[in-house]
Amino acid sequence: MKQETDFLVIGSGIAGLTFALKVADHGKVTVITKANEEESNTKYAQGGIAGVLHGPDTFEKHIRDTLECGAGLCDEKVVRMVVTEGAERIREIIEWGTRFDKTEAGEYDLAHEGGHSEHRVLHYKDSTGNEIERALLQQIHSHPNITVYTHFFAIDLITQHHLGQEIKRGTPDIECYGAYVLDKKSSEIITILSKLTLLASGGAGQVYKATTNPAIATGDGMAMAYRAKATLRDMEFIQFHPTALYNPADHPSFLISEAVRGEGAILKTKDGKEFMDRYDSRASLAPRDIVARAIDQEMKVRGDDFVLLDCRHISPEKFKEHFPTIYSKCLSVGIDISKQMIPVVPAAHYICGGIAVDEWARSSIKNLYAAGECAATGLHGGNRLASNSLLEALVYSHRAYVDAITQFRTVAIQSEVPDWNSEGTSQPNEMVLITQNLRELQEVMSTYVGIVRSDHRLKRAMDRLRIIYGETEALYGRTILSSKLCELRNLITIAYLIVKFSMARKESVGLHYSTDYPPIDVKSSEQLKG
Ligand code: FAD
Ligand code: SIN
Repeated sequence: MKQETDFLVIGSGIAGLTFALKVADHGKVTVITKANEEESNTKYAQGGIAGVLHGPDTFEKHIRDTLECGAGLCDEKVVRMVVTEGAERIREIIEWGTRFDKTEAGEYDLAHEGGHSEHRVLHYKDSTGNEIERALLQQIHSHPNITVYTHFFAIDLITQHHLGQEIKRGTPDIECYGAYVLDKKSSEIITILSKLTLLASGGAGQVYKATTNPAIATGDGMAMAYRAKATLRDMEFIQFHPTALYNPADHPSFLISEAVRGEGAILKTKDGKEFMDRYDSRASLAPRDIVARAIDQEMKVRGDDFVLLDCRHISPEKFKEHFPTIYSKCLSVGIDISKQMIPVVPAAHYICGGIAVDEWARSSIKNLYAAGECAATGLHGGNRLASNSLLEALVYSHRAYVDAITQFRTVAIQSEVPDWNSEGTSQPNEMVLITQNLRELQEVMSTYVGIVRSDHRLKRAMDRLRIIYGETEALYGRTILSSKLCELRNLITIAYLIVKFSMARKESVGLHYSTDYPPIDVKSSEQLKG
């Protein structure tokens, strides 16, 4: 079956929905999403969205914090653009109905997070992402030009390759004509032809055993773009959030927001001693790479499975008011935060790398845009500053929209595209092989490509990935397609890219820390000012 649309949007998180809402005033929009419409990393965002809406904070301070956190690898032009344009984009989602908490004086209640020199994080209690998603979906449902298809899984982007032409990575004339999409309910594979396509398919946390990311975060968009020969960048920079709740039964891991440390919670070892001041003068509120590495080090040296987050000195009323979800979750596993400390461990949280895009969210493939976590803009450099990703998604979706509406009328639908070829795939899915290979993949990545790496560990990981890759490709060639098999394949691609990029970086910088290379000096804010 074939469908045609002006704008195909892959993903219904903050990036996909804001783009869809904007372009819908100009043409027909098809949003596809592989689970329920609200399921996304966006939905689980706790801390909030960083932005400078008024003084005493300044754009310059936010820019400086972002650059410092990025360990010298941010694109300063992009940082300036995102921070300064961000305020307008935040006002837009407020106009669309997003609520952010306010103080009794009627000002926005700005939270503090690691690496920020000011309180600047707008939030809705501890469920900011859920609130943003709610407001955006409400707008989406009332727009006549937007159709949302849930449980529609994008398998591959369509390019000249599907017209039988040979294409090579890096050639400037690759074009995107839409995507092949699996309707998970009917098992039918649909050809969606579009003038322009936006990848807004989110992150890839599921490549690790312990992650804060929901099951949908399997890096599909990045892997599809890679197969279509797009340029990807910065894939070695994986952010581990320092404080996921230690509860081995939870998959994904439940996040204890950094804003809790912003309210004064302190990290301690199991014997109740503070340790972060030995690693950084900002102690528990140092940037995430520093805190996660310090926790990792303490756990290894002491042989402990977790460290503790002490919130007992924070007023329980204040805690419950700002962090009701975290409070209830802790209580549900027997932790009363006013009496007991919370056991926490680092967990894979965010991928700084992804599909390389320019300042208009254009990928290296014509008619293909990328925004949100699947894109790499240059904002984060070697390490993302907390709560900068929702902001980046808003700014880049808007920029994609500005470019897209000037372009789409000049693009014709490519009607020569053949339907998906399922020839030679007759066997039913071997679910046990898929789940076992996924487990092995996550084990390999968590053991050898985690917070601390080395050349030797990376080589081991690559050797094992080759075996998992070979087995999975054989399975892909002969079995009837399922989203689980596609996700496994995509995760293997992501793992391969993380290892490949990590092997190429012969230094320790930002989130990439290798025992084989001494860390380079991170620029202090004083140096950056000068
Ligand atoms: P997502 O919101 O992840 O949306 C991706 C969409 O693509 C989903 O709808 C998914 O189903 C769909 N999709 C994926 N693959 C396919 C496919 N093959 N076919 C069809 N659909 C597909 N950032 C902040 O700035 N502040 C925070 O406070 C914050 N807290 C966080 C807390 C948690 C627990 C997590 C996990 C992340 C947090 N982040 C935070 C990061 C931030 O939430 C994400 O980076 C951001 O929401 C990504 O938005 P997105 O639109 O790019 O992707
Ligand atoms: C958090 O609430 O700690 C998450 C913030 C983020 O990932 O930006």
